[in-house]
Amino acid sequence: MKVGGKHFRTIWLKPDDERVVQLIDQRFLPHDFVIEEVGSVEQMATAIREMHVRGAGLIGASAGYGMYLAALEAACAGRDSFDEHMAGAAAQLTATRPTAVNLSWAIERQLQNIGTGKTADEKVALAKRTADLIADEDAEHCGMIGQHGLQLIRQIAKAKRNKMVNVLTHCNAGWLAFVDYGSATAPIYATHDSGLPLHVWVTETRPRNQGSKLTAWELGQHGVSHTVIADSAAGHLMQRGEVDLVIVGTDRTTCTGDVANKIGTYLKALAAKANDVPFYVAVPSSSIDWKMRDGLKEIPIEQRGAEEVKSADGWYDGQQIAVRITPDESPAANYGFDVTPKELVTGLITERGVCEANEKSIRSLFPEHAP
Ligand code: MRU
Repeated sequence: MKVGGKHFRTIWLKPDDERVVQLIDQRFLPHDFVIEEVGSVEQMATAIREMHVRGAGLIGASAGYGMYLAALEAACAGRDSFDEHMAGAAAQLTATRPTAVNLSWAIERQLQNIGTGKTADEKVALAKRTADLIADEDAEHCGMIGQHGLQLIRQIAKAKRNKMVNVLTHCNAGWLAFVDYGSATAPIYATHDSGLPLHVWVTETRPRNQGSKLTAWELGQHGVSHTVIADSAAGHLMQRGEVDLVIVGTDRTTCTGDVANKIGTYLKALAAKANDVPFYVAVPSSSIDWKMRDGLKEIPIEQRGAEEVKSADGWYDGQQIAVRITPDESPAANYGFDVTPKELVTGLITERGVCEANEKSIRSLFPEHAP
């Protein structure tokens, strides 16, 4: 997508030195556009854990490039320790964040492909090719999700006689959470580009404010009409007929259709059900967990530090500052994600089309994953 009129992906290899990965450091958005250079698996693990990069697809792509950096390191360390170094890197990257399944998916894909190489040079080349492939596929799949989602929005627009369609989205399942286009935002961008009138309600998404900081910024860069709302305003808007559909992303969706996404998604799904608002989840197949069946019991929910809840940060006088918003002594809990049961989901928008949130329908689109 474009920033200041120039096309950017969220992660790429440095053009004049392909031993370095460049990425948009999202901690400074929307106020500062900073590109970070990452040259080791250690640095990549930090970038994922500390959320310089975040969002399921981008976490997967970053892990892919992290494994490539690990392969470069392993090649220097000598052939005998190559596999050992890769196993250590895989463990280090896997430990960064637990909920998005794209992380382990990308690491396993890398280990499998690298394993087919015979020499260290071959393995490095395979790691680079696989990392590029993961990133390219991510962008391509999000683009396809955009086209399938566009059909859904067109139907709603037609029923409204081409009056403004209001979409509500939560958190940032946008371009910044992937390599390009985004999952939940891809249908939004496709609709906007098609010329249909569209407006997006953007929930702020406490405690890290991915909605008000990131989604609002990227929609603005693309010229999409949007309004930021407090998280707690979503039900009110649905009750009053101000929301035509909800589209959210997912960090992990079970093969049975349960959806893990940013904390607060479940409440939006409940409000959507109560008000007959269609609730769609945009899900590239890299976010489907083909082994898990019960989202509530099985999906690991990340808990982050209390400080994120006890404070809010923003820009003041040219710098980023954090201020305390709770009593100093009050404890706080910080659950990063929740699980929306399949019964509350109207449909899943995948790169292969829209399906129902149940095992039969999901597997019919992805028959190669038959149990
Ligand atoms: O904690 P984050 O910012 O990495 O959370 C991920 C998300 O942005 C959301 O849960 C998103 O809706 C799905 S990721 C495509």
